[in-house]
Amino acid sequence: MALVTRFTEQFNVRHPIVCGGMTAVGTADLIAAVANSGALGFLTALTQPSPEALVKEINRCRDLTDQPFGVNLTILPSIEPIPYDEYRDAAIESGIKIIETAGRSPEPHMPAFRSAGVKVIHKCVSVRHAIKAEQLGVDAVSIDGFECAGHPGEDDIGGLVLIPATTAALTIPVIASGGIADARGLVAALALGADAVNMGTRFVATKEAPVHENVKRQIVANDERSTNLVLRKFRNTARVAKNKVSDAVLEIEDRPESTFDDVADLVSGKRGRTQVLTKGLMDEGMWWAGQTQGLINDIPSCQDLIDRMVTEACELIETRLVPAVRTDASTS
Ligand SMILES: Cc1cc2nc3c(=O)[nH]c(=O)nc-3n(C[C@H](O)[C@H](O)[C@H](O)COP(=O)(O)O)c2cc1C
Repeated sequence: MALVTRFTEQFNVRHPIVCGGMTAVGTADLIAAVANSGALGFLTALTQPSPEALVKEINRCRDLTDQPFGVNLTILPSIEPIPYDEYRDAAIESGIKIIETAGRSPEPHMPAFRSAGVKVIHKCVSVRHAIKAEQLGVDAVSIDGFECAGHPGEDDIGGLVLIPATTAALTIPVIASGGIADARGLVAALALGADAVNMGTRFVATKEAPVHENVKRQIVANDERSTNLVLRKFRNTARVAKNKVSDAVLEIEDRPESTFDDVADLVSGKRGRTQVLTKGLMDEGMWWAGQTQGLINDIPSCQDLIDRMVTEACELIETRLVPAVRTDASTS
């Protein structure tokens, strides 16, 4: 069984499922497994320490899969300048044909993408930014609802409203993101007008994700309330796993006189990466996770996850939705 959408056709991917860019998680190990499962994954450019290292990682991924995969370029404010143009060019020169942009408008990078024939999926969190991205000429938009791990923005619009509001406003394919972890989310997203789903947290709890086993087990143990929204005070809201560190950040943010400097060490990405993701010390740093933790109950391989999602989605449509339709007025 298969689900065919504008996304699968235009991006030449077997299933309408995407693994979005994930700092420290989106390496060749996971992304090749996603690609081999028939979904589309994104190597996360800035996980690599330099553009040269990104080229090596792209080649490593190619050694592990002959299926399509892309590169995520996340453009966020940072204290030290990041050579975004060089990461972009490294991806293009390595022959990458699909790029996921996020964080900022892809506008400055569009000429380079266009002249190299690269397809662009821009991930954003509001209808107005999705419309802007379509006007800039991107090929698809990934729209991240309030449930998502990472940066949901400041509007707090859940997927049930944000996804159909976006699909109604755009003509290009829309990828529903945030709060999706299984076949039910996939079918719902299609019903809301989306052409595919994007998942983050679900892919962290897979066999191939390059994170400590404790992280995967914690996602399974956690429920839908196990997140905190930190950095709201600084209008850079981030949804992360609830733990001692993110609780402490909230407590500091609550103090009227507190500034970003007071939380900088606690929210450090390096700390989350080394202490939590690598060493599995679950209360020693901040780490990203979404509300879908409440829907994740196992740690499958990517292949099993994707096969299960597609099979169950088809069954759900055939056994639950289609039989509910009556062509005449009778309800019996
Ligand atoms: C551990 C982790 C790291 C992430 N890092 C990034 C990132 O670097 N860039 C980005 O665009 N999105 C990042 N995200 C967001 C995901 O790509 C995706 O948009 C989000 O997880 C979707 O919500 P979900 O977790 O409910 O599936 C990250 C998510 C997780 C769980």
